[in-house]
Amino acid sequence: MKKDIIIAIDGHSSTGKSTLAKDLAKALNYIYIDTGAMYRAVTYYALQNNLISDNHIDKEQLIKDLNNIQIDFKYNPGKGFAEVYLNGQNIENEIRQMRVSNFVSQIAAIPEIRKKLVAQQRKIGQDKRVVMDGRDIGSVVFPDAELKIFMTASPEVRAKRRYLELLDKGEDVSYIDVLTNVLKRDKIDSERSASPLIKTKDAIEIDNSYLTREAQLDMVLDLAKNRINQS
Ligand code: DC
Repeated sequence: MKKDIIIAIDGHSSTGKSTLAKDLAKALNYIYIDTGAMYRAVTYYALQNNLISDNHIDKEQLIKDLNNIQIDFKYNPGKGFAEVYLNGQNIENEIRQMRVSNFVSQIAAIPEIRKKLVAQQRKIGQDKRVVMDGRDIGSVVFPDAELKIFMTASPEVRAKRRYLELLDKGEDVSYIDVLTNVLKRDKIDSERSASPLIKTKDAIEIDNSYLTREAQLDMVLDLAKNRINQS
């Protein structure tokens, strides 16, 4: 007997969590949910509504505005994954900009925001058959997930990947700025009091500094099939 499972993929930023999660979801015919995109969507809302100026975030107003923030995922068959929408607008490209990356960790540290987004994530995963990536999926959102993966890679490898991605999108950035952002986000994500990034005891750690995309997928797909076939 096969069973439906939840696959939780957590880890540091720019470790290719979403690449692995998308590949897995496709291979298993599961839904893929990028929870980082949800925190990015809230950050984008804050930027668009002038709730972030200089280095100050108007947290009080943002929390008041939470009821006006509707985040949805809609499957794009051309791209093969679900894109994120904010109040009906597709913001998949906008949320990857550096101006969003620069503030998202601070936004993700606000407990009221986490509470709302975690509730929505649990609802999406209630029927299982989902691959969800983030920072707290195996620890908080789905502590009983059947398969938990914790991904890491050296900061330099991760910054180089993100730098090349941004260059490819035409952003004018320097490698040093990207590395600084990666290190800063690691620190905030791991040290915040609300659901910090941790590796749970039952998570399987993968360091993919020198692993190919295919090798990594094969490895995790084996683990997933093993869980699915366990009765
Ligand atoms: O995976 P990402 O880089 O798109 O995530 C953006 C930010 O959101 C990152 O700083 C960590 C935070 N995040 C989080 O706190 N919890 C999640 N489940 C997903 C992302």
